[in-house]
Amino acid sequence: MDFPPALTEHTLANMRDHLLALQQINDALSAGEMDQAGRIAEQRLGMTSLQLHGAAEVAKLMPQGMQDAGTAMHKAASRFAIAAQDAGVTGDLKPALKALGETMSACVDCHAGYRLK
Ligand code: HEC
Repeated sequence: MDFPPALTEHTLANMRDHLLALQQINDALSAGEMDQAGRIAEQRLGMTSLQLHGAAEVAKLMPQGMQDAGTAMHKAASRFAIAAQDAGVTGDLKPALKALGETMSACVDCHAGYRLK
């Protein structure tokens, strides 16, 4: 894939924030702060994050499979955000952890298939 250099920098910075977000989500879950975990996921990884990182501009440079992995990640993170809120009420973390695993699996799938240069 051939991203212009500025966009490559932007994308990699965004990626590092993805990893930071996962760590912060894990911390929030371990502290029992489900709403906080959900907020981080929605804003930094979920559908809400699309605007934040200028996804439309970046997406048109991506092959279809890469776009699909990105979409899968954003959707799974938004599912996690809702499941985390639910867990705050029900005390059952399993559905949230499943959605979090699906979020990570989209990271893994995309990294397995695509490079920036
Ligand atoms: C749509 C594809 C895609 C998804 C989804 C994706 N990444 Fe990436 N990521 C990439 C690409 C492409 C690179 C650059 C790899 C390269 O060129 O060597 C990258 C690089 C990274 C890097 C290295 C950043 C650096 O400074 O070099 C980190 C960390 C990272 N991703 C974390 C994540 C995490 C965590 C997730 C999931 C929450 C995720 N990524 C989801 C495509 C993706």
